[in-house]
Amino acid sequence: MPTQDEISQAAAHVRGGRLVAFPTETVYGLGGDATNDRAVAAIFAAKGRPSFNPLIVHATSLAALASEVEVSALARELAAHFWPGPLTLVLPRASGSRLSLLCSAGLDSLAIRVPAHPLAQALLEACGCPLAAPSANRSGHVSPTQADHVRADLGDRIAQILDGGACPIGLESSVVDVTVSPPRLLRAGGLERGAIEALIGPLADATETTERPLSPGQLTSHYAPRLPLRLNAQSVEADEGLLAFGTPLAGAAQVENLSETGDVVEAAANLFAALRRLDQPGLAGLAAMPVPAQGLGEAINDRLRRAAAPR
Ligand code: TXA
Ligand code: MG
Repeated sequence: MPTQDEISQAAAHVRGGRLVAFPTETVYGLGGDATNDRAVAAIFAAKGRPSFNPLIVHATSLAALASEVEVSALARELAAHFWPGPLTLVLPRASGSRLSLLCSAGLDSLAIRVPAHPLAQALLEACGCPLAAPSANRSGHVSPTQADHVRADLGDRIAQILDGGACPIGLESSVVDVTVSPPRLLRAGGLERGAIEALIGPLADATETTERPLSPGQLTSHYAPRLPLRLNAQSVEADEGLLAFGTPLAGAAQVENLSETGDVVEAAANLFAALRRLDQPGLAGLAAMPVPAQGLGEAINDRLRRAAAPR
């Protein structure tokens, strides 16, 4: 078991914007400061994900997330019964939330969870901030249930691994979307469906209401700018907003630069906030400069293509 010193060191990494892996009762998580755009972007980079899937934000208690999400009576009841534990709740994002927009990946919701594992709780306590944490595996690999699995997949990409032995449940948390009525089970996981239904009645299945239940990153409810967006702009009009990458094209009405230095991790960190800031009445449309498809550039381009798709 890690010592208190190792936990403090991991917390210092998190506060410094670096990533650490930690055990939960379900699987190991790849954690970063959920309020830090760069740290959250680094999580996607480390996982090697070709698109931005929203991430689960972990905290010591529901109270610690009170200003981040809108908590309905039903959500409060679920949390009171099953937290800490292997249940994730999807709730509406609070307008004043400090959590990185990248955690929501463009949705107006946030997934939150209070883990039961003592090491996860100790780390969260020491960090003093919520942790965005997907499972600590490379994209497409299975979720890690032992520190060795994390080391093999991500060892050279993260600052520290807290080794808590094998995860007792070994299956990811159950994900319940409580933004809809009745709530729907987005992912079957470590908390049995029956236990949830015994408390709040039948859950809807993700398949009844969504086309591709396991990847909300694909859902049409994703935030899309109100203004039309054109991609791979080589020039810009005087009545357009420019989403720049590197040296901006001249002549736009307004410019948001994703990264002046052409850094795709920085660009990912800025993407959702920049799109929202640019999407203002008064502009005729938005033009995005090309972003190279390397590293996180692939996920950025995927997101921009969705934002530009006809609707
Ligand atoms: O057990 C777990 O949940 C682990 C540990 C580390 O807590 N975490 C985990 O995270 O499995 P990840 O990123 O591998 O899976 C998160 C799941 C995905 O299916 C994702 O699409 C869904 O939660 N999700 C996250 N935010 C969401 C949102 N705002 N709306 C709908 N689904 C969301
Ligand atoms: Mg996963």
